[in-house]
Amino acid sequence: MLSDLRNSADYPLRQWFRWQRPGLKFRNEPKSDLYDHLPQPARQFAQETAARLLDEYRLSDLYHASTAENYRENLFYLEMLEQALHTASPTLPPAIAAADIGPSSWFYVHALHAALKWWQCSAGREVALTGCEADAFRVYLDFHSRFDHARAHLRGLTGARYLPRRFEPLPATFDLITLLFPFVFLKEHLAWGLPARLFSPVQLLADAWHSLKPGGLLVIVNQGEAEHRAQRDLLQSAAIHPLAAYRHESTLFQYDLPRWVLVVVKDDEPRVFAAKSGRR
Ligand SMILES: C[S@@+](CC[C@H](N)C(=O)[O-])C[C@H]1O[C@@H](n2cnc3c(N)ncnc32)[C@H](O)[C@@H]1O
Repeated sequence: MLSDLRNSADYPLRQWFRWQRPGLKFRNEPKSDLYDHLPQPARQFAQETAARLLDEYRLSDLYHASTAENYRENLFYLEMLEQALHTASPTLPPAIAAADIGPSSWFYVHALHAALKWWQCSAGREVALTGCEADAFRVYLDFHSRFDHARAHLRGLTGARYLPRRFEPLPATFDLITLLFPFVFLKEHLAWGLPARLFSPVQLLADAWHSLKPGGLLVIVNQGEAEHRAQRDLLQSAAIHPLAAYRHESTLFQYDLPRWVLVVVKDDEPRVFAAKSGRR
């Protein structure tokens, strides 16, 4: 309750103040030893996967202007998105409209953009990618806001925009929507600085669903099995049946909690999204 009181005071202040500072640039670091910490044969597998992703998804701009950690994390996200796309095998249009809900600082925007542009399309698709972040003006230790970081990560990408506001439904607008680590439990929502009154995982799912075109793809990733199960329950309550649900195993980046993926294709059936607490 204390954290809710604090968040309820701090969050509106951040929204009002909209902290921004220009000039943020990320230093480039060498990428030659990205996977030297891994034992064989995982090391060789990671190196080969990284080389393939760099080539197939034209990541050279990011390769030459990122920290080693950020680059490795982009590789992880890209591999995860690629696998989700392979699983669903959608026919993506030559001009794709996509939304990413809750991108934080969008440290992985290059991976997402590259997946949309180059997945099974050697000529490259035209990408219109929108990221909507509810808490864009949180200030990091370097005195730059998430918004500053997102702007810096976006440098050099065309067709991607970062909107510093909560996601609002746009009926049947997007071919693909990503919900990468949405809050399904109140505890994490509060820990990230948001007021309890904004905790609404059912509404967020409903808004994402209504914003997909029929046949559109929803990719949800959760951290840890408990969140994954809770997210599946939310889908089930709305009679949404995932095409695939699996734990994403990877050598490209290691997290404390495993990443679980849900891949859903939107059908034409009307849905009722019953309010359910999802609190823990
Ligand atoms: C756990 S973080 C995930 C960040 C990022 N997607 C990632 O892969 O690391 C969830 C993010 O969603 C944002 N968020 C929560 N509710 C939202 C909403 N209704 N609209 C937009 N962003 C939201 C939060 O502020 C937070 O930045």
